[in-house]
Amino acid sequence: MVGARPNFMKMAPIVHAMARRPEQFEQLLVHTGQHYDANMSHIFFEELGLPRPDINLDVGSGSHAQQTAAVMQRFEPVLLEYRPDWLIVPGDVNSTLACALVAAKLGAKIAHVEAGLRSFDRTMPEEINRILTDQISDLLFTPSPDADQNLLREGIDPAKIHCVGNVMIDTLVRLLPMAEARLPALRAKLNLGDYLLVTLHRPSNVDDPATLTEIMQALQQLGRDLQVLFPVHPRTRGKLAQLGFADEQPGIHLVEPFGYLDFLALQAHAALVLTDSGGVQEETTYLGVPCLTARPNTERPVTITLGTNRLVESTCPALVQAARDLLAHSRQSPHTPARRPALWDGQTAQRIVDVLCEAHSCSKF
Ligand code: UD1
Ligand code: UDP
Repeated sequence: MVGARPNFMKMAPIVHAMARRPEQFEQLLVHTGQHYDANMSHIFFEELGLPRPDINLDVGSGSHAQQTAAVMQRFEPVLLEYRPDWLIVPGDVNSTLACALVAAKLGAKIAHVEAGLRSFDRTMPEEINRILTDQISDLLFTPSPDADQNLLREGIDPAKIHCVGNVMIDTLVRLLPMAEARLPALRAKLNLGDYLLVTLHRPSNVDDPATLTEIMQALQQLGRDLQVLFPVHPRTRGKLAQLGFADEQPGIHLVEPFGYLDFLALQAHAALVLTDSGGVQEETTYLGVPCLTARPNTERPVTITLGTNRLVESTCPALVQAARDLLAHSRQSPHTPARRPALWDGQTAQRIVDVLCEAHSCSKF
């Protein structure tokens, strides 16, 4: 199952790994349609080499209850018709929990990819989705040992937990050379020098007008030091429009969301990344690119203890100060090699498929 932008990067390597073993796996790819703009969905199928979904539930946007309920209502007949042995769900979006709940009630086994992450902040919708999906899953594939500890603390049977590494990094490892090849054209098109790359879409940052205004003020100040390139998530686009921030702000280049390859190339060569995305914290860690995360917490602590990530308060002074400190530091020591968490090595999907095979005694799914 896939539904929202980050799901595509997590499922693509698993879909490919299963396709290499046709005698063991028969697959049905379901897209819930939670994300539907061409640059939030279709482009990733092309760039990641994902097959066209067998079924698209076309649920679209709505409140949490509306969206979760719509996925459940439309997914149930699919499960009843195809009766799969296993459902694989990635991440922590509403589609993840909705599909898992349907499968649990109908007796299909559930494999949760990226299990065990916890921000310990239940005001985040994703935290609710993570806790509940983990509780009803039969196999829990974790990206790092901290996630195993979280699951054990919540009473999950250790036999269900498999620390396999970060599957999103499989996609990065495979496509980084292709992304790099696009950089010269991108630099020319965007007239790029030294730049700060920004992505923001958490409700805690963008749904509160005062917080979003603070962030935009910080970006305007930082725009005097270096170029600010801000591909705007559709949730954020609407909020910026409501606040009267036009497309071009002094020093800030607001653009449409990029496809995966362009965005990866831009991450790899940014002077600094400012984000509230989960996946971007991980990708910058792998790439060794300095990253500021505008949040009070993260469910990905290895990106801080091992990687290049730092948390920062979403206020104008804190953002400006933290960005200037990091930029000064990275100019002093520009070639610090990236420290990568164990098993973030491009082979995670292979490990997941091995475990699935073993769990199902290698019989045809
Ligand atoms: C969702 C996930 C979040 C994830 C993010 C990845 C939940 C609760 N949230 O947040 O965990 O980090 O995706 O990007 O599942 N919209 C469009 N076009 C689209 C998709 C959305 O215009 O293709 C607009 C709609 O106005 C919609 C809003 O964006 O109401 C929010 O979309 P939604 O999927 O509800 O949540 P995200 O903020 O995208
Ligand atoms: N991404 C992208 N284009 C963009 C911004 C992000 O392709 O303009 C990719 C990014 O490289 C990562 C994924 O989207 O692979 C992260 O998704 P997102 O930030 O939407 O969700 P989160 O990880 O926060 O759940």
